[in-house]
Amino acid sequence: MLPALKEIPSSANRAPKRKDILSVDEKKLAIRNALRYFPTKWHKELAAEFKKELDDYGRIYMFRFKPDYEIKARPISDYPAESQQAASIMLMIQNNLDPAVAQHPYELITYGGNGAVFQNWAQYLLTMQYLSEMTEEQTLHMYSGHPMGLFPSGKEAPRVVVTNGMMIPNYSKPDDLEKYNALGVTQYGQMTAGSYMYIGPQGIVHGTTITVMNAFRKRLKKGETPKGKIFLTAGLGGMSGAQPKAGNIAECITICAEVNDEASSKRHEQGWVDELISDMDELVRRTRIAMKNQEVVSIAYQGNVVDIWERFYEEEIFIHLGSDQTSLHNPWSGGYYPAGIAYEEATLLIKDNPSKFEELVKESLRRHASAVNKHTERGTYFFDYGNAFLLESSRAGGNVMAENGIDFKYPSYVQDILGPMCFDYGFGPFRWVCASGLPEDLDKTDDIALRVMREIKPTAPAEIQQQMQDNIQWIEDAKKNKLVVGSQARILYADAEGRAKIAEEFNKAVNSGELKAAVILGRDHHDVSGTDSPFRETSNIYDGSKFTADMAIHNVIGDSFRGATWVSIHNGGGVGWGEVMNGGFGMLLDGSAEAEVRLKNMLFYDVNNGIARRSWARNEEALFAIKREMERTPGLKVTVAQIVDDSVFDSL
Ligand SMILES: NC(=O)c1ccc[n+]([C@@H]2O[C@H](COP(=O)([O-])OP(=O)(O)OC[C@H]3O[C@@H](n4cnc5c(N)ncnc54)[C@H](O)[C@@H]3O)[C@@H](O)[C@H]2O)c1
Repeated sequence: MLPALKEIPSSANRAPKRKDILSVDEKKLAIRNALRYFPTKWHKELAAEFKKELDDYGRIYMFRFKPDYEIKARPISDYPAESQQAASIMLMIQNNLDPAVAQHPYELITYGGNGAVFQNWAQYLLTMQYLSEMTEEQTLHMYSGHPMGLFPSGKEAPRVVVTNGMMIPNYSKPDDLEKYNALGVTQYGQMTAGSYMYIGPQGIVHGTTITVMNAFRKRLKKGETPKGKIFLTAGLGGMSGAQPKAGNIAECITICAEVNDEASSKRHEQGWVDELISDMDELVRRTRIAMKNQEVVSIAYQGNVVDIWERFYEEEIFIHLGSDQTSLHNPWSGGYYPAGIAYEEATLLIKDNPSKFEELVKESLRRHASAVNKHTERGTYFFDYGNAFLLESSRAGGNVMAENGIDFKYPSYVQDILGPMCFDYGFGPFRWVCASGLPEDLDKTDDIALRVMREIKPTAPAEIQQQMQDNIQWIEDAKKNKLVVGSQARILYADAEGRAKIAEEFNKAVNSGELKAAVILGRDHHDVSGTDSPFRETSNIYDGSKFTADMAIHNVIGDSFRGATWVSIHNGGGVGWGEVMNGGFGMLLDGSAEAEVRLKNMLFYDVNNGIARRSWARNEEALFAIKREMERTPGLKVTVAQIVDDSVFDSL
């Protein structure tokens, strides 16, 4: 029976209307495509409804089919399933769509404005149906949210293979996404949205904390601390909202601009930012007091970040760290709000006069870049935080290029911080979810992880001691920081050795009954090996290969036959459609001996693939790490790059 039409509550956080890009014939095709999920007897009624959705929202979401039951991660034993592996995927899908976790739950968007789990509710229902009936000798193949079907495979094969946004390269421009997404044949999976591995803001808080702490370490003199020193940035949205919290953990003064008062108030109510200020004179006054008293405080400025950069220059307020986390991966549809125009007015322009809006964004980016340049001349350390700020500023004609005309003036946070300090050593965002849903289980896993980290730290080389210590500290404080939203999940940065040892101990604890149910392992795609992204994850690759995507593709294939429960590979995520290939995995640790074999095999490759590639690119830290790994692991034999002496070129 056709389910009843749904009222969408006015309180729901709705996705913005998407670009109306289809011709009349293409709109017919989009409706025809949507109707293929349903029996013909419903087509007439649904065709009119889907046309209205397309007109009103620019996409067909099929709201009528959104289930009435609560969508949230349940204990794994609650899922009707033939396979526990499949049940673990159902749990994670529901977690990604939980209204407490997801940004626009009605439009199946988990984060980043357009990070989709599915394109429509029919895909959700069908996928859950397949997962509930599949056996451990079948694999479900997901094409950008569409479940193509169950195919016979084998026990060792992944239960689900996910691709999102895979395009023929020449069709990977931003408008191609709009068009083919509106047609219902592709979607933007971001990173962990379309791969069911999002765990709420905890992941980004941890990553941002590590970045801010290490950025200060790069600049502070011996004995100095971040106290009383300014970190200026922008954005209090889905991910960017983590910045003030991270700044507080790193113990500095965070000043974060946000043009949308609703977003800044929400972060304030949630306790993610300490103070709200809407007046610039007041901001200047308050900042001086915080500096004088060496406070650890986070302040949201309700306005445009460009205004702060310009005013602080006039006021001679010294900014130690500067960055930006507006959504510049999506500059023309509201990711970046131009200076000099009110928020509401700008929002109207996006719809009514997009070319004027585009012009204003470009002008604002030029102003933004020029103000940043003035501060860096005074000694500010500015880094791009993976939001395409430098890329879009350069495209807008901002003064951000280095003298060679190829590189940017400023490093990305991966070039200067995460790459050499973490990724090249194999440190990355390892995460897990306790499938029992019990907070006690999460506490136990925290204890296990802490024990393992403390055990391996004494024998770890000096080069990675700081990273180990930071992560030990993170786990010690994790519960206190109250970061769990949705499933009982934890993140921590660990290297290959740490990840495998922690996972092995979890598996043992599941087997012994110490943990009440299985553990689901995964990671962010923003990692050592999973992502090829020339302006972010692989921005510290200098042999020319940063514009290739072989590493990400090898990773997903390599993980798939080494024991992953599910694998995913996406086009777009973080820096934008066509700008990155990124992949991830999920793995169920059910306490079995098979799970132990799988975790060892797969985690080893999942980290060392990227270290090998980074070492081949002659990254010193990765050369060190891969040589160490070869000494530890008899079966590993990696082609090692020879370093060329500069003098070779003198005679050429
Ligand atoms: N480095 C990382 O690890 C990492 C991780 C996640 C996301 N990102 C990137 O960071 C960006 C932000 O992600 P998000 O999920 O927070 O997006 P979001 O759209 O939820 O938030 C961005 C916020 O910036 C505000 N904003 C836009 N222009 C502004 C301006 N000129 N001044 C002040 N505020 C302004 C918007 O109102 C919005 O609230 C994205 O490009 C994303 O891809 C980076």
